[in-house]
Amino acid sequence: MLRVAVDHITPGMILARPIPLPHDPHRYLLQRDIELPLDLVPRLKQLGVLEVWIRNRDLEFLETMIDEGLGDQQREVYAIVRKNFEQVMRGASLDLDIRHFQDAIGSLFDFLKASSCGNMLLQKLDAFDNYLMSHSTNVCYLALLTGMRLERYMIQERNAKSARDAKDLRQLGLGCLLHDIGKMHIPVEILNKPSKLTAEEYEIMKTHPTIGYNMLKGQIHAAAAQVVLNHHQRYDGKGYPQRVNVATGEPSPAQQGKQIHIFSRIATIADIYDAATSQRCYSAAKPSVQVLHELRTWCKGCFDPIVERAFYEIIPPFPIGKTVKLNNGVEAVVVDFNPRYPASPKVQGLRDPYGQRYADPSLEEIDLALYTDLCVARVDDIDVTPYLALQRELMPEPDGVLL
Ligand SMILES: [Fe+2]
Ligand SMILES: [Fe+2]
Repeated sequence: MLRVAVDHITPGMILARPIPLPHDPHRYLLQRDIELPLDLVPRLKQLGVLEVWIRNRDLEFLETMIDEGLGDQQREVYAIVRKNFEQVMRGASLDLDIRHFQDAIGSLFDFLKASSCGNMLLQKLDAFDNYLMSHSTNVCYLALLTGMRLERYMIQERNAKSARDAKDLRQLGLGCLLHDIGKMHIPVEILNKPSKLTAEEYEIMKTHPTIGYNMLKGQIHAAAAQVVLNHHQRYDGKGYPQRVNVATGEPSPAQQGKQIHIFSRIATIADIYDAATSQRCYSAAKPSVQVLHELRTWCKGCFDPIVERAFYEIIPPFPIGKTVKLNNGVEAVVVDFNPRYPASPKVQGLRDPYGQRYADPSLEEIDLALYTDLCVARVDDIDVTPYLALQRELMPEPDGVLL
C-alpha cells in the first residue's frame, strides 16, 4: 500500500485502509477495498484527511509495518478530547472527565509499549475536524513516543521516583492533551487570524498557557499542569509565560535548562513540530523533512539536546509508504527509516526516469544511506534538497547522554 495525498488521487485507486469519521472512532466514511470516488476529495479535505492509504500489489508488505490498531487508539483519545473541549466551548464549567482521559492515554501508552513497529513509523491522526483537538491528540502521541525513547533519561531526571514510576508517562500524555486548552479563551479573531499577529495580539496569545494552567490547577496532577504552563518555555530561558514573584508582583527570572520539568521539555518540541506539519488557517502543512530541518537550524537552543536528539531518532523525515522522486529521476516509495541517517531512507523504485513502471519493484530496492550522490529530491512536488544536508546524519550525541 501507498500513502497518497488527497490532491493526487486518480481514478481507479482502491483504499487499503478505511477512512474513519473524525468525531466517531467507531464509524467509517469509506471502507477498505472500495474505489475512491474523485468527487469525494473536497469532503475529505473538509474532514481534515490529507492522505489516504491506497492498495498497491507490490507493496503489500508495508501493511505489516503500519499498525492499524494505532489509528484506532488515536481516535479514541481524540473522541475524549473532543467531548471535553466541546463542553468548554459551550461555556460549561470545566469539569474534566479525568478518568476517561487517563483510561484513553493509558491504553495508547500500553499499545505503544507493546507495539513492535509503531515507534518509528510516525502516523499522525489521519482524520480530524478541529485543529486544536487534533493538534492536542498528536502532541500527546509524539510526546509519548519521545518519552518512551528516553527511559533511562527519565529515571535520571525524575530521580525522586522509583524507576517504575519515573517511566510512567501518563501525566505527560495528559498534560499534552490539555496543553492548549487556554486557547479556548483567546478571541477567535486572534486564534484564526490568517496574517501575522500584531504585537498587542501576540501578547494576548501568549496568555494561553497561564489561562490553561489556572483552569486546570487542582484538577490534574502537578506534572501534567507543568506541561500546560511551560510548553512554550524554551531550554535557553527564552519563551513564555513571564514568571512573577507572588510576594512582590515583580517579574522573576525565567526557568531554563533542567529547571524546566522534563515533561514540559518534551512537550515543547512535539508542539512546535506538530503545529508546523499541520494545515493551519494561515499556512499550509509543511513536509516533515522541511520542519525537521527548520527545528535544527532556526530553533537552536530551544530544546533540551537529549530530548531533541531522541525526537530526531523517532520522527522520519520521509514517512513510510510515501512516494518520492529521487535526484536521478526515479519515482520510488519509502519502505524503511534509518535513525542513524534520517534523510537517507530505504526506498523501492516504482518507475524509471522515463516514467515506465518497473516490472518487479522488489528488485529495485535502494538503501540511500549507502550512496553519497543519490537522494530524495521531491516530495508532493516540493523540492526538498535544501533540507537534506543536516539530516543526512543524526545529530551528535550530547555529552553524558543517557539514552
Ligand atoms: Fe501553546
Ligand atoms: Fe500547541
